[in-house]
Amino acid sequence: LEKLHMLYEGKAKKVYKTKDEDKFIVEYKDDATAFNGVKKGKIADKGIVNNQMSGILFRLLQEKGIENHYIDTLGDREMLVKAVKIIPVEVIARNVAAGSMAKRLGVEEGKAFKAPVMEFCYKSDELGDPLINEDHIEALELATKEEIDKIKSYTLKINEILQEFFCRKNLRLVDLKLEFGLFEGKVILADEVSPDTCRLWDINTDEKLDKDRFRRDLGNVEESYQEVLRRLKK
Ligand code: C5P
Repeated sequence: LEKLHMLYEGKAKKVYKTKDEDKFIVEYKDDATAFNGVKKGKIADKGIVNNQMSGILFRLLQEKGIENHYIDTLGDREMLVKAVKIIPVEVIARNVAAGSMAKRLGVEEGKAFKAPVMEFCYKSDELGDPLINEDHIEALELATKEEIDKIKSYTLKINEILQEFFCRKNLRLVDLKLEFGLFEGKVILADEVSPDTCRLWDINTDEKLDKDRFRRDLGNVEESYQEVLRRLKK
């Protein structure tokens, strides 16, 4: 199946149509942005790492019964996926305080929560992805109550599966961001799962091995992405 015209270009990926209207090809780029596009750069071979890592995790989740858009890995940077209609809500699950939540609520980074904390953001570049709640999602008609309930239960299950998997790789899943879409009337997991969209700390040293190395200019950005992939493949 070959790429036809580009449908959409995001900050980290391009999406192409194919001859089969039920399938898209996603191309992962090396471009990196942070703080809603204010900070821009490139992380060498990030597209390759994120494509491979997302492939590994989407296949794992399928084995565990979590439906997602992944069909096949086509090349270094390309993935064949189901042509889902993305629900414009970013779903965040947090196991440990970090990032915007730590800042907003004055919680110390690294504090582990007794239970996962779920947050929703409205996917809108103009508005800077503002935090919203379930009532906002319904009021703006981004998703129905039934869809929100499914998204919440899938997110908890996915967080549980990935936390356990990463733990076996000596990685602590601090938080992650998921996106869901509709395919044949069903809500399924879409987008990517990578060091761009998860916070991953070394389980022994708490060393950050994710996009915070780029966001906070911590150095060894490329090396950290490669290290995560290396551990996942072990
Ligand atoms: O910045 P914040 O603490 O809200 O991020 C929570 C999680 O969501 C992090 O894992 C981050 O990488 C991810 N995220 C994302 N895309 C965004 C915002 C956050 O993948 N636009």
